Amino acid sequence: MVCLGNICRSPLAEGILKNKAKHLNIKIDSAGTASYHIGNPPDYRSIKIAEKYRIDISNQSARKITKEDFEIFDVIYAMDLNNYNDIIKMTNNPIHKEKVKVILNEIYPEMNHPVPDPYYGGENGFQDVYNLLDKACNKIIEKIEKR
Ligand code: 4NP
Repeated sequence: MVCLGNICRSPLAEGILKNKAKHLNIKIDSAGTASYHIGNPPDYRSIKIAEKYRIDISNQSARKITKEDFEIFDVIYAMDLNNYNDIIKMTNNPIHKEKVKVILNEIYPEMNHPVPDPYYGGENGFQDVYNLLDKACNKIIEKIEKR
């Protein structure tokens, strides 16, 4: 799960998917494309909205996506097209590029809809982000269960 800062959207995505994947043996992590917040915990507003759904993301620590992530993970979900383009630029390997997806295409195929960046907005933005990610993660789990 990848966003810009790895403090708002992708930590929530990681927490939501992990919560839904407890019965599955899969590795889930999140990262950012930017370095500003490396080592920081998630934004308190992300922690708060996760808590509302009994998901604890407070122990997460922001990191930047690395080239090794293309080897470790089968799928890399970008929260928006900027993130997608930044991730794609990190590799020349077509197999690695193929792994990168825009997460909301799971529920709105081929639309490239963004998970709106809630950083500069109010707390309602975090509820919207939660709702979108919750739906997308349901689809992701469905897909994995069908494999
Ligand atoms: P995120 O949100 O990409 O969902 O973690 C942001 C966090 C920090 C900044 C921008 C977006 N920032 O500009 O510091």
